[in-house]
Amino acid sequence: MPAPLSRRRFLGRAASAGAGLCLTAAAAEKAASPSSPPPAPAAPVPDWPRWTGSDERALLEVLRSGRWGRTSGGARVKAFETAFAARMQAKHCVATSSGTTALLTALGALGIGPGDEVVIPPYTFVATFNAVTASFALPVFVDSDATTFQIDANKVAAAITPATRLLLPVHIAGSPCDLDRLAALAAERKIKLLEDACQAPLAEWRGRPVGTRGIGGCFSFQASKNLTSGEGGAVLTDDQAFADACYDFHTPGNAKRSPSSGRGANFRLTEFQAALLVSQMETLEAQAKLRDANAALLTAGLAQIPGIKPAGLTPGTTRSGWHLYMFRYEAAQFAGLPRAKFIAALAKAGVAASSGYSALNTSAHVKALAANAHYRRIYGTDAMARWAERNACPVNDRLVEEAVWFGQTKLLGSRADTEKIVAAVADVRRRAGDLAKV
Ligand SMILES: Cc1ncc(COP(=O)(O)O)c(C=O)c1O
Repeated sequence: MPAPLSRRRFLGRAASAGAGLCLTAAAAEKAASPSSPPPAPAAPVPDWPRWTGSDERALLEVLRSGRWGRTSGGARVKAFETAFAARMQAKHCVATSSGTTALLTALGALGIGPGDEVVIPPYTFVATFNAVTASFALPVFVDSDATTFQIDANKVAAAITPATRLLLPVHIAGSPCDLDRLAALAAERKIKLLEDACQAPLAEWRGRPVGTRGIGGCFSFQASKNLTSGEGGAVLTDDQAFADACYDFHTPGNAKRSPSSGRGANFRLTEFQAALLVSQMETLEAQAKLRDANAALLTAGLAQIPGIKPAGLTPGTTRSGWHLYMFRYEAAQFAGLPRAKFIAALAKAGVAASSGYSALNTSAHVKALAANAHYRRIYGTDAMARWAERNACPVNDRLVEEAVWFGQTKLLGSRADTEKIVAAVADVRRRAGDLAKV
């Protein structure tokens, strides 16, 4: 958080801002020129996001156009929707203000609401769960597959009840879950399949980008994502009626494209975000290719180290989006060195890693739903008490204890950088006995 300004410092800044008003038009133009060197940052710039002069120009163009929002006649949101849909081989795209609002838009457009059950995985960001509960539907967790970390498609059928309206699997880490099995199951049970593809731009299933295997897919452009505008999101679909319903849900107004459900909200992306996304798409493929190559190198190296089990890709995956690089860490193969100490030793060697998600299905946030007054009224107190038991996910419980992640920027280094990561892990294993003692 920035330090609060003292009155003196505030006045000092206001004065220099005032002095700026005396610049000539030419000097002001030069000062604002995207080609002029950026001012020295007050703090070290994080390694993500990355930007170029093209991003600076795109933002300035929107600024100077005075058209900052979709409703003020700007063309950037539409341009981004067209570009992203084309890149992902989808017929339609509705851009939204975040991945969460993309999910809310899709759930709203599908008419998911109180009394409906939605199947979700436990190994995901809490937003997947939150989107369901914001719609007052009941999230039902299905356990993870230990090899891929994805929802276990073998276990989904058993979780379906007459109240199930939607399968909402996640392509966690940007790697696809088993879309063939889930699409077949959804078709057989006459329920919808919506992909939480928030981490998965550019991921492919059997040679086709994810997001349109079911009714649609939701994407996030939040600050950490491989394609980012700080915040942002999108729904992709091949279904015209669903696209129209999403459009209407995400923007209040009278000119409706679909029959109204009486629900909706303002979940629009701004022109600034859209301009940045179009510009960021220029470097997306080159970065993705680098991640592909480095992930393959990491997997080849790490898989040789006893106790390190890189997350497998679901058969059918032809490209991961590589938002995260995940593996299981077996402490027993590292002389009992606890995961936290393994991660600390890697950090000391200059390799930042994290332990990833904790167990969502048993978190205080999720458990609180059983006592939520609205949920008790909608689903009944007994059903909400039994709901916690339905959500047991023993495989995932183990996964969250063993998982280790590298963030996507770790995959943007050189071949030598990537080899150093493998060497660092191997070195920690060599020293694990000693490290375990301290
Ligand atoms: C799997 C998943 N779903 C949903 C979201 C929500 O996206 P946002 O943060 O843009 O609202 C995220 C974001 O991190 C995510 O990783």
